[in-house]
Amino acid sequence: MKKELYLLAGLALSPMVLMAENVCISTAKTSLVVNATEGQELKFVYYGEKLSAEDLKNINNSGLPQFSAYPVYGLNCPGETALAVKHADGNMSLQMEVEKTETRREENAIVTVITMKDKVYPFYVDVCYKTYQDADIIETWTEISHNEKKAVTLNQFASAYLPIRRGNVWFSSLYGSWANEGRLVQEPLEPGMKVIKNKDGVRNSHTAHGEVMFSLDGKPQENSGNVIGAALCYTGNYKLRIDTDDSEYHQFYAGINEENSAYTLEKEETFRTPELALTFSEEGLSGVSRNFHRWARLHKLAHGDKLRKILLNSWEGVYFNINQEGMNQMMADIASMGGELFVMDDGWFGDKYKRNSDNSSLGDWMVDTTKLPKGIEGLIADAEKNGVKFGIWIEPEMANTTSELYEKHPEWILKAPQRDPVLGRGGTQVVLDLGNPEVQDFVFGVVDNLMTKYPKIDYIKWDANMGIMNHGSNYLDKDEQSHMYIEYHRGLKKICQRIRAKYPDLTIQACASGGGRANYGYLPYFDEFWVSDNTDALQRIYMQWGTSYFFPAIAMASHISAAPNHQTFRTIPLKYRIDVAMSGRLGMEIQPKNMTDEEKELCRKAIADYKNIRPVVQFGDIYRLVSPYDRLGVASLMYTSPEKDKAVFYWWKTETFCNQHLPRVKMAGLSPDKMYRIHELNRIDNSPLKFEGQTFSGAFLMSNGLEIPYTHNVDYHKLNDYASRVLYLEAVK
Ligand code: GLA
Repeated sequence: MKKELYLLAGLALSPMVLMAENVCISTAKTSLVVNATEGQELKFVYYGEKLSAEDLKNINNSGLPQFSAYPVYGLNCPGETALAVKHADGNMSLQMEVEKTETRREENAIVTVITMKDKVYPFYVDVCYKTYQDADIIETWTEISHNEKKAVTLNQFASAYLPIRRGNVWFSSLYGSWANEGRLVQEPLEPGMKVIKNKDGVRNSHTAHGEVMFSLDGKPQENSGNVIGAALCYTGNYKLRIDTDDSEYHQFYAGINEENSAYTLEKEETFRTPELALTFSEEGLSGVSRNFHRWARLHKLAHGDKLRKILLNSWEGVYFNINQEGMNQMMADIASMGGELFVMDDGWFGDKYKRNSDNSSLGDWMVDTTKLPKGIEGLIADAEKNGVKFGIWIEPEMANTTSELYEKHPEWILKAPQRDPVLGRGGTQVVLDLGNPEVQDFVFGVVDNLMTKYPKIDYIKWDANMGIMNHGSNYLDKDEQSHMYIEYHRGLKKICQRIRAKYPDLTIQACASGGGRANYGYLPYFDEFWVSDNTDALQRIYMQWGTSYFFPAIAMASHISAAPNHQTFRTIPLKYRIDVAMSGRLGMEIQPKNMTDEEKELCRKAIADYKNIRPVVQFGDIYRLVSPYDRLGVASLMYTSPEKDKAVFYWWKTETFCNQHLPRVKMAGLSPDKMYRIHELNRIDNSPLKFEGQTFSGAFLMSNGLEIPYTHNVDYHKLNDYASRVLYLEAVK
């Protein structure tokens, strides 16, 4: 029977009359429609650009097939499914029917919950949708529960399913490895299964990433075309599947990686799957990125509305050679260049076992007073004297077998009984069992003790340098061992929530051997992530390009480091290193003592200019222009302010040949009618560019662009094979 359903269509709370059993979940520019007829299977109808009221009314007559919105296993077995269970009585089938639909407001979002019940068993699935009007994002997840006599085993439990119409659909995703994170790959979706997965247990974005984009009408374009973006918000192991079967649709599933993680769901317990965030844009890949970035800043990222400080991190400057004097010198140096924060990295702790290399002391979070006789107090006093804030490195989820912590609590590490643990970094690293509440207290205590003793600590770099190599928890029961990965991440979430409740203003960086924790599961608790341990500017262009698909510049820590680079041994001039670092959250990771006065002066100027453009870079809209992956010899992107009155344009040559031909780069995202004055930042040339101080219309800049010289006009002894430009555009009245 048909009835009229009134749903809150958005924050404006304007009720929308909907077709009978169709539920339309909308943001400003997108709509997702499911058919939730009571007593029937929940069906997926539509996802894409916003439907008009007329089209919505008629959508059921458009010929669109209707798929199960959350496919379950047991009847019609051959297809892929989102949910597969074993009931208390051994039955392995499900048949879900809609019971009711409810809508509620949650802070600044609207949540729609469609409750389904198995036709026979007291087994329930709530399919949930949360809409963010101001960012065109719809999050979807499920809540699974039952009232059966005994526990039910969940063998598969994806967060969501989305059918995507076949055609010329291309898929963009990120892959990589340590020191080469965030590599972009784009490919047409072909018949068969495409699986993107993570099984590290701790770091889930070194290799594959839990975020993807689908370009719906042919080869991916940055600034045109219809694109769906999807990001799984989870800190642990995940699996994304795209089954291009014999139907007209690519079948996309995303959720926790269920391998070795079958979950025993007790009576009346609710299992909540992580959110899959969906977005859609008609403005190409960059359009989807802008939606994700806005959502990140407004809703997902800790302090997404606050500008980030410009910092110096000690790691590549001194590695483990921490001492009071050296730290003081680095603080004075970064302060003299205009920096605002100094972060002391690894090497400051350990009593019985001193942390002089990576093979000991994790877990022993007491100051090594041989290196720092005046303690953290002394460092904070030095920071204050130098006029910078102070930050510190920790790796609290870990221990080394050579540590006082391990001697005291060998039962706290993850490993199976009767097995010798497989050891990680330094040949002695082990992972703590975060499912254990005592361990949670300990890990929380690492931050809490530091912050209680030294409330002036402004920033924490939270590292995690090992995956789960040993399956086994000493805390979980024998028959709950398959919960280990899930409980680890529940424990981590609890710890993060406690830290954020008590220290809401603290800045925390997520680092995990570099870029191992770039995922929206982490970001509510972290202000930023370290993109990669690789600071080579050329390789960073590729990594930061890929990472920018899903994450905003404000979250991407990007540091100026030494030449030759410590990872690639490439010698890149300082100007180019600055120009790349300035496209993210700018910092330095270098020994300033080894820099010349001229180099320091260039950095001082760059930092001053970055302070000026910082709001545009960190709060602005990204427009990627020429991809380094297209191998055209140049890469280019820009950020524009929301009002389009300011923009920063980056142009980096990625290779140099004599008499080469590079494309002229057309700008994007400007207002065609505005006139923009051009000013080059970080200029090293002996004479200004032809267009320095000149004004051009947004229309001209977007249809022609500016002709950028391929080389720098510098004295002969300064010539080299790199060239880059950063242009600041300001609208003139
Ligand atoms: C990891 C991090 C680095 C640095 C070292 C310290 O590798 O990614 O940035 O902090 O640990 O040991």
